[in-house]
Amino acid sequence: MRVVHTLAELRHALAGATGTAFVPTMGNLHEGHLSLVRLARERGGPVVASIFVNRLQFAPHEDFDTYPRTLERDCELLRATGCNLVFAPSEAELYPEPQSFTVQPPGELADILEGHFRPGFFTGVCTVVTKLFNCVQPRVAVFGKKDYQQLMVIRRMTRQLALPIEIVAGETSRAEDGLALSSRNGYLDAAQRAEAVALARELQGVAAELRRGRRDWSALEAAAMDALADRGWKVDYVAIRRQADLGAPADGEALVVLGAARIGSTRLIDNVEVGVAT
Ligand code: PAJ
Repeated sequence: MRVVHTLAELRHALAGATGTAFVPTMGNLHEGHLSLVRLARERGGPVVASIFVNRLQFAPHEDFDTYPRTLERDCELLRATGCNLVFAPSEAELYPEPQSFTVQPPGELADILEGHFRPGFFTGVCTVVTKLFNCVQPRVAVFGKKDYQQLMVIRRMTRQLALPIEIVAGETSRAEDGLALSSRNGYLDAAQRAEAVALARELQGVAAELRRGRRDWSALEAAAMDALADRGWKVDYVAIRRQADLGAPADGEALVVLGAARIGSTRLIDNVEVGVAT
Protein backbone atom coordinates (compact mmCIF):
# COMPACT_ATOMS: atom_id res chain seq x y z
CA MET A 1 0.00 0.00 0.00
CA ARG A 2 1.27 3.44 -0.93
CA VAL A 3 0.56 6.65 0.95
CA VAL A 4 0.65 9.86 -1.09
CA HIS A 5 0.16 13.44 0.01
CA THR A 6 0.05 15.38 -3.25
CA LEU A 7 -2.29 15.40 -6.22
CA ALA A 8 0.67 14.90 -8.58
CA GLU A 9 1.72 11.72 -6.74
CA LEU A 10 -1.88 10.51 -6.69
CA ARG A 11 -2.34 11.02 -10.44
CA HIS A 12 1.00 9.32 -11.11
CA ALA A 13 0.11 6.35 -8.89
CA LEU A 14 -3.29 5.97 -10.60
CA ALA A 15 -2.13 6.51 -14.19
CA GLY A 16 -3.83 3.90 -16.37
CA ALA A 17 -5.89 2.47 -13.49
CA THR A 18 -9.45 1.41 -14.27
CA GLY A 19 -12.27 0.31 -11.99
CA THR A 20 -10.96 2.22 -8.99
CA ALA A 21 -13.11 1.99 -5.85
CA PHE A 22 -12.88 4.96 -3.50
CA VAL A 23 -13.58 5.38 0.23
CA PRO A 24 -13.42 9.02 1.38
CA THR A 25 -12.83 9.53 5.12
CA MET A 26 -11.71 12.09 7.66
CA GLY A 27 -9.43 9.54 9.33
CA ASN A 28 -9.35 8.29 12.92
CA LEU A 29 -10.52 5.07 11.37
CA HIS A 30 -12.60 2.40 13.05
CA GLU A 31 -14.28 -0.83 11.98
CA GLY A 32 -17.07 1.14 10.23
CA HIS A 33 -14.59 2.73 7.84
CA LEU A 34 -12.77 -0.58 7.35
CA SER A 35 -16.04 -2.34 6.47
CA LEU A 36 -16.41 0.18 3.62
CA VAL A 37 -12.88 -0.64 2.44
CA ARG A 38 -13.85 -4.33 2.38
CA LEU A 39 -16.93 -3.48 0.29
CA ALA A 40 -14.68 -1.52 -2.06
CA ARG A 41 -12.33 -4.50 -2.34
CA GLU A 42 -15.20 -6.72 -3.51
CA ARG A 43 -15.32 -4.64 -6.70
CA GLY A 44 -11.99 -6.09 -7.80
CA GLY A 45 -10.26 -2.86 -8.87
CA PRO A 46 -7.68 -0.80 -7.00
CA VAL A 47 -8.95 0.54 -3.66
CA VAL A 48 -8.16 4.14 -2.74
CA ALA A 49 -8.99 5.71 0.63
CA SER A 50 -8.64 9.40 1.36
CA ILE A 51 -7.94 10.92 4.75
CA PHE A 52 -8.70 14.60 4.98
CA VAL A 53 -10.34 16.60 7.77
CA ASN A 54 -12.36 19.01 5.66
CA ARG A 55 -12.53 22.47 7.24
CA LEU A 56 -15.34 23.48 4.85
CA GLN A 57 -17.85 21.19 6.54
CA PHE A 58 -17.19 22.40 10.09
CA ALA A 59 -18.90 25.48 11.56
CA PRO A 60 -16.58 27.84 13.49
CA HIS A 61 -17.83 26.55 16.88
CA GLU A 62 -17.44 22.88 15.91
CA ASP A 63 -14.57 20.47 16.53
CA PHE A 64 -12.32 21.02 13.47
CA ASP A 65 -9.25 21.80 15.59
CA THR A 66 -9.73 18.94 18.03
CA TYR A 67 -10.91 16.34 15.50
CA PRO A 68 -8.58 13.35 16.09
CA ARG A 69 -5.76 13.05 13.55
CA THR A 70 -4.14 9.60 13.69
CA LEU A 71 -2.59 9.15 10.25
CA GLU A 72 0.00 6.53 11.13
CA ARG A 73 -2.44 4.21 12.86
CA ASP A 74 -5.02 4.79 10.12
CA CYS A 75 -2.51 3.70 7.48
CA GLU A 76 -1.66 0.54 9.42
CA LEU A 77 -5.35 -0.37 9.61
CA LEU A 78 -5.87 0.38 5.91
CA ARG A 79 -2.86 -1.70 4.93
CA ALA A 80 -4.14 -4.64 7.00
CA THR A 81 -7.57 -4.31 5.34
CA GLY A 82 -6.22 -4.51 1.80
CA CYS A 83 -6.38 -0.88 0.73
CA ASN A 84 -3.96 -0.16 -2.14
CA LEU A 85 -3.47 3.59 -1.99
CA VAL A 86 -4.05 6.30 0.61
CA PHE A 87 -4.47 9.93 -0.41
CA ALA A 88 -3.80 12.14 2.63
CA PRO A 89 -3.40 15.70 1.34
CA SER A 90 -2.58 18.69 3.51
CA GLU A 91 -5.02 21.61 3.56
CA ALA A 92 -2.60 23.61 1.41
CA GLU A 93 -2.55 20.78 -1.13
CA LEU A 94 -6.32 20.36 -1.45
CA TYR A 95 -7.19 24.03 -0.94
CA PRO A 96 -4.18 25.91 -2.37
CA GLU A 97 -6.41 28.95 -2.84
CA PRO A 98 -9.65 29.84 -1.01
CA GLN A 99 -12.32 27.40 -2.22
CA SER A 100 -14.69 30.07 -3.53
CA PHE A 101 -16.36 27.75 -6.05
CA THR A 102 -18.62 25.41 -4.11
CA VAL A 103 -21.17 22.70 -4.81
CA GLN A 104 -24.46 23.68 -3.24
CA PRO A 105 -27.04 20.97 -2.69
CA PRO A 106 -30.77 21.82 -2.86
CA GLY A 107 -32.37 23.07 0.35
CA GLU A 108 -35.14 20.47 0.32
CA LEU A 109 -32.50 17.82 1.01
CA ALA A 110 -29.66 19.77 2.58
CA ASP A 111 -31.39 22.31 4.84
CA ILE A 112 -33.38 19.71 6.79
CA LEU A 113 -32.31 17.48 9.71
CA GLU A 114 -28.47 17.67 9.85
CA GLY A 115 -28.44 20.66 7.51
CA HIS A 116 -30.88 22.55 9.74
CA PHE A 117 -28.65 22.13 12.78
CA ARG A 118 -25.37 22.42 10.83
CA PRO A 119 -25.95 25.16 8.23
CA GLY A 120 -23.52 24.88 5.33
CA PHE A 121 -22.47 21.37 6.32
CA PHE A 122 -23.66 19.68 3.13
CA THR A 123 -22.19 22.38 0.90
CA GLY A 124 -18.85 21.63 2.56
CA VAL A 125 -19.35 17.89 2.09
CA CYS A 126 -20.49 18.16 -1.56
CA THR A 127 -17.63 20.49 -2.42
CA VAL A 128 -14.91 18.28 -0.96
CA VAL A 129 -16.45 15.04 -2.25
CA THR A 130 -16.70 16.49 -5.78
CA LYS A 131 -13.09 17.62 -5.54
CA LEU A 132 -11.93 14.25 -4.20
CA PHE A 133 -13.90 12.49 -6.96
CA ASN A 134 -12.05 14.64 -9.51
CA CYS A 135 -8.71 13.82 -7.88
CA VAL A 136 -9.26 10.06 -7.68
CA GLN A 137 -11.62 9.61 -10.68
CA PRO A 138 -13.10 6.42 -9.27
CA ARG A 139 -15.59 4.08 -10.92
CA VAL A 140 -17.23 3.32 -7.55
CA ALA A 141 -17.39 5.26 -4.28
CA VAL A 142 -18.49 3.76 -0.96
CA PHE A 143 -20.35 5.69 1.76
CA GLY A 144 -21.81 4.52 5.09
CA LYS A 145 -25.50 4.49 5.98
CA LYS A 146 -24.42 5.78 9.39
CA ASP A 147 -24.50 9.23 7.75
CA TYR A 148 -27.81 8.54 6.05
CA GLN A 149 -28.57 12.04 4.84
CA GLN A 150 -25.01 12.49 3.58
CA LEU A 151 -25.35 9.29 1.54
CA MET A 152 -28.62 10.57 0.07
CA VAL A 153 -27.16 13.98 -0.79
CA ILE A 154 -24.13 12.38 -2.47
CA ARG A 155 -26.31 9.95 -4.42
CA ARG A 156 -28.48 12.76 -5.77
CA MET A 157 -25.49 14.99 -6.52
CA THR A 158 -23.80 12.18 -8.46
CA ARG A 159 -26.99 11.51 -10.40
CA GLN A 160 -27.88 15.12 -11.19
CA LEU A 161 -24.34 16.07 -12.21
CA ALA A 162 -24.00 12.86 -14.26
CA LEU A 163 -20.78 11.90 -12.51
CA PRO A 164 -19.70 8.52 -13.91
CA ILE A 165 -19.46 6.99 -10.45
CA GLU A 166 -21.55 4.28 -8.84
CA ILE A 167 -22.39 5.08 -5.22
CA VAL A 168 -22.38 2.02 -2.96
CA ALA A 169 -23.87 2.07 0.56
CA GLY A 170 -22.35 0.21 3.52
CA GLU A 171 -24.33 -0.87 6.59
CA THR A 172 -23.63 0.81 9.93
CA SER A 173 -21.04 -0.97 12.07
CA ARG A 174 -21.93 -1.02 15.75
CA ALA A 175 -20.24 -1.79 19.06
CA GLU A 176 -21.51 -4.88 20.89
CA ASP A 177 -24.07 -2.87 22.86
CA GLY A 178 -25.45 -1.32 19.66
CA LEU A 179 -23.74 2.09 19.67
CA ALA A 180 -22.91 3.13 16.10
CA LEU A 181 -19.14 3.38 15.71
CA SER A 182 -17.98 6.97 15.25
CA SER A 183 -14.73 8.87 15.53
CA ARG A 184 -16.57 11.19 17.92
CA ASN A 185 -17.23 8.31 20.38
CA GLY A 186 -13.63 8.90 21.48
CA TYR A 187 -14.75 12.16 23.10
CA LEU A 188 -17.00 10.27 25.55
CA ASP A 189 -15.91 9.53 29.14
CA ALA A 190 -16.80 6.13 30.65
CA ALA A 191 -20.20 7.22 31.99
CA GLN A 192 -21.13 8.97 28.75
CA ARG A 193 -20.00 5.94 26.75
CA ALA A 194 -22.30 3.72 28.81
CA GLU A 195 -25.20 6.14 28.26
CA ALA A 196 -24.48 6.70 24.54
CA VAL A 197 -26.27 3.54 23.41
CA ALA A 198 -29.57 5.08 24.56
CA LEU A 199 -29.77 6.98 21.25
CA ALA A 200 -29.70 3.76 19.19
CA ARG A 201 -32.14 2.13 21.64
CA GLU A 202 -34.68 4.97 21.33
CA LEU A 203 -34.48 4.88 17.54
CA GLN A 204 -34.89 1.09 17.62
CA GLY A 205 -37.88 1.56 19.91
CA VAL A 206 -39.55 3.93 17.42
CA ALA A 207 -38.74 1.50 14.59
CA ALA A 208 -40.35 -1.35 16.55
CA GLU A 209 -43.52 0.72 17.07
CA LEU A 210 -43.65 1.47 13.33
CA ARG A 211 -43.29 -2.23 12.54
CA ARG A 212 -46.21 -2.88 14.90
CA GLY A 213 -48.30 -0.54 12.77
CA ARG A 214 -48.22 2.76 14.70
CA ARG A 215 -48.71 5.71 12.36
CA ASP A 216 -48.89 8.60 14.84
CA TRP A 217 -45.51 9.89 13.63
CA SER A 218 -45.32 13.08 15.66
CA ALA A 219 -46.27 11.39 18.93
CA LEU A 220 -43.62 8.71 18.37
CA GLU A 221 -40.97 11.31 17.59
CA ALA A 222 -41.92 13.44 20.60
CA ALA A 223 -41.91 10.47 22.99
CA ALA A 224 -38.41 9.43 21.89
CA MET A 225 -37.08 13.00 22.18
CA ASP A 226 -38.63 13.34 25.66
CA ALA A 227 -37.14 10.03 26.78
CA LEU A 228 -33.66 11.13 25.72
CA ALA A 229 -34.08 14.58 27.27
CA ASP A 230 -35.17 12.94 30.54
CA ARG A 231 -31.90 11.00 30.53
CA GLY A 232 -29.94 14.25 30.19
CA TRP A 233 -29.45 14.41 26.43
CA LYS A 234 -29.83 17.64 24.45
CA VAL A 235 -31.83 16.46 21.50
CA ASP A 236 -31.62 18.09 18.06
CA TYR A 237 -34.17 15.78 16.45
CA VAL A 238 -35.74 12.38 16.26
CA ALA A 239 -37.49 12.20 12.89
CA ILE A 240 -39.43 9.57 10.98
CA ARG A 241 -38.90 10.08 7.24
CA ARG A 242 -39.29 8.30 3.94
CA GLN A 243 -36.15 6.44 2.88
CA ALA A 244 -36.60 7.60 -0.71
CA ASP A 245 -36.11 11.33 -0.18
CA LEU A 246 -36.26 12.03 3.58
CA GLY A 247 -39.67 13.60 3.03
CA ALA A 248 -42.64 13.30 5.39
CA PRO A 249 -43.57 9.69 6.14
CA ALA A 250 -46.55 7.98 4.61
CA ASP A 251 -48.21 4.65 5.11
CA GLY A 252 -46.90 1.85 2.89
CA GLU A 253 -43.49 3.42 2.28
CA ALA A 254 -40.05 2.33 3.42
CA LEU A 255 -39.14 4.58 6.35
CA VAL A 256 -36.07 5.57 8.33
CA VAL A 257 -35.90 6.88 11.89
CA LEU A 258 -33.10 9.41 12.24
CA GLY A 259 -31.77 11.01 15.41
CA ALA A 260 -29.15 13.51 16.54
CA ALA A 261 -28.48 14.41 20.14
CA ARG A 262 -25.75 15.70 22.37
CA ILE A 263 -24.42 13.93 25.43
CA GLY A 264 -22.24 16.39 27.32
CA SER A 265 -20.60 18.31 24.48
CA THR A 266 -20.44 15.35 22.08
CA ARG A 267 -23.00 15.27 19.28
CA LEU A 268 -23.96 11.79 18.07
CA ILE A 269 -26.17 10.76 15.13
CA ASP A 270 -27.73 7.46 14.21
CA ASN A 271 -30.59 5.99 12.22
CA VAL A 272 -32.62 2.81 11.78
CA GLU A 273 -34.33 1.72 8.57
CA VAL A 274 -37.84 0.28 8.64
CA GLY A 275 -38.88 -1.66 5.54
CA VAL A 276 -42.35 -1.59 4.09
CA ALA A 277 -44.82 -3.59 6.19
CA THR A 278 -46.05 -6.66 4.33
P1 PAJ B 1 -16.10 10.20 8.15
O1 PAJ B 1 -16.97 10.65 9.27
O2 PAJ B 1 -14.68 9.87 8.41
O3 PAJ B 1 -16.80 8.94 7.49
C1 PAJ B 1 -16.24 8.36 6.34
C2 PAJ B 1 -17.23 7.31 5.84
O4 PAJ B 1 -17.38 6.29 6.83
C3 PAJ B 1 -18.63 7.89 5.58
O5 PAJ B 1 -19.16 7.34 4.39
C4 PAJ B 1 -19.40 7.43 6.80
O6 PAJ B 1 -20.78 7.30 6.57
C5 PAJ B 1 -18.75 6.08 7.07
N1 PAJ B 1 -18.97 5.63 8.45
C6 PAJ B 1 -18.76 6.33 9.59
N2 PAJ B 1 -19.13 5.59 10.66
C7 PAJ B 1 -19.57 4.40 10.18
C8 PAJ B 1 -20.10 3.20 10.78
N3 PAJ B 1 -20.22 3.09 12.09
N4 PAJ B 1 -20.45 2.19 9.95
C9 PAJ B 1 -20.33 2.29 8.61
N5 PAJ B 1 -19.85 3.39 7.99
C10 PAJ B 1 -19.47 4.43 8.76
O7 PAJ B 1 -18.29 11.23 6.38
C11 PAJ B 1 -17.21 11.79 6.35
O8 PAJ B 1 -16.09 11.32 6.98
C12 PAJ B 1 -16.99 13.08 5.56
O9 PAJ B 1 -18.18 13.83 5.55
C13 PAJ B 1 -16.50 12.84 4.11
C14 PAJ B 1 -17.54 12.07 3.28
C15 PAJ B 1 -15.16 12.08 4.11
C16 PAJ B 1 -16.28 14.21 3.41
O10 PAJ B 1 -15.37 14.97 4.12
